[in-house]
Amino acid sequence: MSPEKSGPAAVIVLAAGAGTRMKSRTPKILHEIGGRSMVAHALLAARSIDPQRVALVVRHERDRVAAHLKELDPEALIVDQDDVPGTGRAVEVALEALDAVAPLEGTVVVTYGDVPLLTGEMLAELVSAHESEGNAVTVLTALLDDATGYGRILRGADGTVTGIREHKDASHAEREIREINSGIYAFDAAVLRDALQHVTTDNSQGEKYLTDVLGLAREAGGRVAAVVTEDRWQVEGANDRVQLAALGAEHNRRIVEGWMRAGVTVVDPATTWIDSTVTLDEDVRILPNTQLHGTTAVARDAVVGPDSTLTDVRIGEGAKVTRTHGSGADIGAGATVGPFTYLRPGTVLGETGKIGAFYETKNVTIGRGSKLSHLGYAGDAEIGEDTNIGCGNITANYDGEKKHRTVIGSGVRTGSNTVFVAPVTVGDGAYSGAGAVIRKDVPAGALALSMTTQRNSEGWVIANRPGSVSAALAAAAGEARTDTPSSPASTEEGKQP
Ligand code: UD1
Ligand code: CA
Repeated sequence: MSPEKSGPAAVIVLAAGAGTRMKSRTPKILHEIGGRSMVAHALLAARSIDPQRVALVVRHERDRVAAHLKELDPEALIVDQDDVPGTGRAVEVALEALDAVAPLEGTVVVTYGDVPLLTGEMLAELVSAHESEGNAVTVLTALLDDATGYGRILRGADGTVTGIREHKDASHAEREIREINSGIYAFDAAVLRDALQHVTTDNSQGEKYLTDVLGLAREAGGRVAAVVTEDRWQVEGANDRVQLAALGAEHNRRIVEGWMRAGVTVVDPATTWIDSTVTLDEDVRILPNTQLHGTTAVARDAVVGPDSTLTDVRIGEGAKVTRTHGSGADIGAGATVGPFTYLRPGTVLGETGKIGAFYETKNVTIGRGSKLSHLGYAGDAEIGEDTNIGCGNITANYDGEKKHRTVIGSGVRTGSNTVFVAPVTVGDGAYSGAGAVIRKDVPAGALALSMTTQRNSEGWVIANRPGSVSAALAAAAGEARTDTPSSPASTEEGKQP
């Protein structure tokens, strides 16, 4: 099929089970850890050993699962399991479907869609032992303190693997065995094909057990062996949400540890959550309570956190992002964001720029060195370079039906509380006064003022708020003024230049 692929003939991922213990409308294998569905983790591990072909066996919530798989891996063969229950039947239908395309020969690996921490390295180790030892079957096993529920590995007096006994079918003595079947195997295709024809449903669960293949292969003269792993997490499946959370935490622990070993400072690994799809450069610093999701990428010397949640955000070298909730944003090198900042998709902040405290941004391009320091909203806008947007500025981008653009040039200085009523354009080097409502374009270099005249109604408080603290203080201030009528510093006018 694909002669350039150097791995086993096929990987079959079992994903037909119902997963009732999740108690969820979402199929079990679609539940996520580390930003990916469990079955996506399984597929990545499968693909990483470069198999000729991959098949996934589905049944429960078939259409939803198949749609997800098509998106993840369009090349993979989706196989429907029929009414016959059991892991043996699941592998049998997959084998038939693969053989129908082109007869399989060589090594066939079987894994589960609900074992998300299994790595490609582990699978490679299994395949390499299987092939170098010339085995008919090689099973991945682990020693557990509590093996309840798992199939137990049966070994002869000389230690060779003789078979697997399901927990429900096991004797009292067999239940004492601590070595368990992970459900992950490497098979010789021909041995597997033959043995499955002889597997019956004659057991306590009335299922076709894949595990019966081991005993049958041995009876047929094949060598059956085990690879024992000490990393129990890699063989652990998630059957309920408690296990899902435990696997999610362990997955995160591994990812975070990996980044620390790669030169990233993580101040508090326990409260730092990083998806497997995130990339970090050396000397990035991550402060406590930070979650990095999706395609988030952080460049060298940038500092992220504390208390930040970023999804699909790119952060340039040396930038600082503090207490920020962001998605789909691009932060330039040396820029600063936060604290308490909400970055929405399409936010592009140029190098050394700033989006400060209590700002919301959306679909806005901010040029190099421009600053939006405090309290405001910038949406559907373009801001040039080295512009300073004053405190409390707002782009009024929505007229109730449509969104409109605001274009602000370079070197602009806007006064506090300026409102840009879009569509509107402000030229380079323009200024606006405090409280300006910009409804008309401002030419380059102009000062835009939209003032209503201030009128002081003298004595209003004493007349209209009698008995209030304000009135008492106003009256006292009147006294003080009459006491020192010549002091210029005590009058309003005294403050004016
Ligand atoms: C199975 C093994 C057991 C092993 C355990 C490890 C058998 C008979 N038993 O038991 O030895 O210790 O896994 O977790 O194989 N599946 C299908 N179609 C089916 C049944 C299952 O695709 O008809 C899939 C499930 O979606 C799941 C996997 O196979 O991914 C295992 O099924 P599960 O029912 O969990 O098997 P166990 O009884 O736990
Ligand atoms: Ca299971």
